[in-house]
Amino acid sequence: MSSTLAVVILAAGQGKRMKSALPKVLHPLAGQPMLHRVIRAAATLKPVVTCVVYGHGGETVRAACAEFATEWALQDPPQGTGDAVKCALPLIQQTDITIVLYGDVPLIAENTLEALVTHAQTGAIGWLTEIVDDATGLGRIVRNESGEPIAIVEHKDANEAQRAIKEINTGILAVPTRYLAAWLPELTPNNAQGEYYLTDILARAIAEGVPVKTHHATHAFEVVGVNSRVQLAELERTWQRHLATQLCEQGVSVVDVNRIDIRGTLTAATDVTIDINCIFEGTVSLDTGVKIGAHCVLKDCAIAEGTEVLPYTSIDGATVGANARIGPYARIRPGTSLAADVHIGNFVEVKASTVAEGSKANHLSYIGDSTVGKRVNIGAGTITCNYDGANKHRTVIEDGVHIGSDVQLVAPVNIGAGADIAAGTTVWKDVPAGGLTLNQKSQVRKADWQRPTKSTTKKN
Ligand code: UD1
Ligand code: MG
Repeated sequence: MSSTLAVVILAAGQGKRMKSALPKVLHPLAGQPMLHRVIRAAATLKPVVTCVVYGHGGETVRAACAEFATEWALQDPPQGTGDAVKCALPLIQQTDITIVLYGDVPLIAENTLEALVTHAQTGAIGWLTEIVDDATGLGRIVRNESGEPIAIVEHKDANEAQRAIKEINTGILAVPTRYLAAWLPELTPNNAQGEYYLTDILARAIAEGVPVKTHHATHAFEVVGVNSRVQLAELERTWQRHLATQLCEQGVSVVDVNRIDIRGTLTAATDVTIDINCIFEGTVSLDTGVKIGAHCVLKDCAIAEGTEVLPYTSIDGATVGANARIGPYARIRPGTSLAADVHIGNFVEVKASTVAEGSKANHLSYIGDSTVGKRVNIGAGTITCNYDGANKHRTVIEDGVHIGSDVQLVAPVNIGAGADIAAGTTVWKDVPAGGLTLNQKSQVRKADWQRPTKSTTKKN
């Protein structure tokens, strides 16, 4: 797009109905503060300036958006949407087109905004409207006999006939900036709420022969605003169902589209199956045929072809090779890389470790700061004792090692290739390749042993 764009995001409202200490626009939808979503959607249009209009006490909002190159305009006190956009004018006057967005309308999409901008590039106002079943509280689009919009009447200002109109103002529009500069200072608050209405520029446009082109968003959820936690929860579910449906269309089996949560970017190849109640955070990729069992939480990880993640597994900051089997109840922590055909079973925690092809730790183990070779078998209850109270140390287990149950490997320690470690051994010195390593212990039996019995005197 050759025209220079400004984005104004209105966020000066208090959001009282959220009943929260957190400002409304910072409440997350699909893992991201609503305002961040709006700023990111705006950024896709490459505006020269994005200005957020914030209100009294909005310092938290500013601080929470420090990562973005946004300008800030204080509106204090809030006197209506027209007044809010006027507050941003000094920061946007050098641009051709201004797009008005809302911090609490989080799912507005790039292609919808592009359509509005295309109208504004012709010198018109591109105005986003929507047909809704229940228009209570919203501004109605009044049209003449030729179907052209002639006015926007707020619910509180509307008569009965106008209240019956189902086409509503979403508030989102793209407008040549010069019109805002000319018209906003001339708005008057002659209405039921005593506010300066942005919507009044529509009548002004008509009076001056500026065309107004209405447009509907691709998806109805794009224009839904959030005023309460109930509305936020509903919009979250609508959005999640949309993401889940998209996955299904791409060849993924989402067992129940109503029970999945994607709070980041999930890329899934064909024939991936995702069972119920899984949460995906950050950037997750699942290669062909991967199966994710119920109740898994996967964050910033890549799972290769054919791997199965069994129920109640948590994977965070890891890569998993092909045809591996992880879980149920496994915990894979950041810095872990599991190769192909690795098996990590129930109640096994792996942190900052690499495990090479074909190795197994099937039950109740902690593998931390370790390098595990190929075809290693780690018995139940084996612990790498990686922490001396001050520093972390590494454990190296070479190819083909077999470790019995309940072994402690006190790091730093190296187990040579093909070594066997007997059950119950505490290894605190390096083990050379091959052989059997064990701690000498004796087994003693006391035949005269009396098992304690419960006292019969009753305690109060
Ligand atoms: C507004 C529209 C209405 C539309 C509805 C869609 C006007 C006059 N009315 O009504 O036609 O159907 O949105 O939801 O524009 N805000 C500020 N400063 C202010 C007032 C509002 O920043 O002084 C922000 C709020 O934070 C909110 C948004 O603008 O994000 C809309 O404000 P709100 O008071 O909810 O407007 P409505 O009366 O709902
Ligand atoms: Mg509103």
